[in-house]
Amino acid sequence: MLKIGNITLSVPYVLAPMAGVSDLPFRIVTRSFGAPLAFTEMIDARAISNHEQRTRHMLASAPEDRPLGIQLLGNDEEYLVKALEGIEGYDFDLLDLNAACPTPKVTRKGKGAALLREPHRVGKLLKVLVDHATVPVTVKIRAGWDPDSVNAREVALCAEDAGVSALFIHGRTRTQGYSGTVDYRIIKEVKKALTIPVIASGDNLSVHSIKKMFDETGCDGVVIARGSLGYPWIYREVIRFFQDGTLCEKPSMDERIATITNHLNLVVKHYGEKRGISCFHKFFIWYTRGLRGTKPLRVSAFRADTQEELLNVVEELRRFG
Ligand SMILES: Cc1cc2nc3c(=O)[nH]c(=O)nc-3n(C[C@H](O)[C@H](O)[C@H](O)COP(=O)(O)O)c2cc1C
Repeated sequence: MLKIGNITLSVPYVLAPMAGVSDLPFRIVTRSFGAPLAFTEMIDARAISNHEQRTRHMLASAPEDRPLGIQLLGNDEEYLVKALEGIEGYDFDLLDLNAACPTPKVTRKGKGAALLREPHRVGKLLKVLVDHATVPVTVKIRAGWDPDSVNAREVALCAEDAGVSALFIHGRTRTQGYSGTVDYRIIKEVKKALTIPVIASGDNLSVHSIKKMFDETGCDGVVIARGSLGYPWIYREVIRFFQDGTLCEKPSMDERIATITNHLNLVVKHYGEKRGISCFHKFFIWYTRGLRGTKPLRVSAFRADTQEELLNVVEELRRFG
């Protein structure tokens, strides 16, 4: 069990916010295998206050998509408050501030991981959110900006002082991006320093690496990110493993096909056929990764222009079962 403010999760395995990935269809599919809490893709506070159309799509939810966190990107109090006004009327249960995104396009503007260089500023921004939001506020940080400035403990203490209900930490620095080893030691240090829940991210790719994360850091929960791409079954496996120590069977080809088909149909419903198909290509690649002999199908999937053509490609997977 994991408690974040007034939200109680039956299992502590949170689905990561992932830009370009964690849209409504992806969240619905992953929740169907047990993900208890999910986030929107990160959304720039300025885009919300400017009422951009794309942003409205990113904020879309559904009754089976709860509890849901909205992740905001921003470094300006005024825009964060305006964003809170802009999301009134949307269904969500939690607000997260992104102080972790390593992309230069983001950090150049002083947002995302750039905030790690100013721990007190992180505290100030979070205090504004805590004071104005009607839902629990959380923050996602990294180990630090670079190997010479690993300051997650200091940032985390500023966040706790500001009144956040939980802290998410990716145990890599901004300069590491998504590669290199995860620093379990810094996550453990942050966990020891805080009284609020600490939820750990970084290479939570299988039941074994997730067990390692809990064992090495003492964290209260984990964030599952890349481990869920094309493999929503990771949730079933992790839940079972921590319930009774057993490993689930891998999904059969029939189940894979049913899940991929469901995901594709949801994507087309959400975006329309043209945008839906192009958005689904990457998911098809992830779903078929590691399935021997399926490379030609990935090429056919890329050439498919309609939902029907793509569904036919998905059906062809049966030959590989
Ligand atoms: C495609 C992709 C998009 C991501 N987008 C976000 C994002 O919008 N917000 C965020 O806080 N983290 C984002 N992340 C980081 C993940 O939430 C997670 O912290 C990171 O991938 C480390 O976990 P992993 O090693 O288990 O994948 C993203 C990761 C990936 C792979």
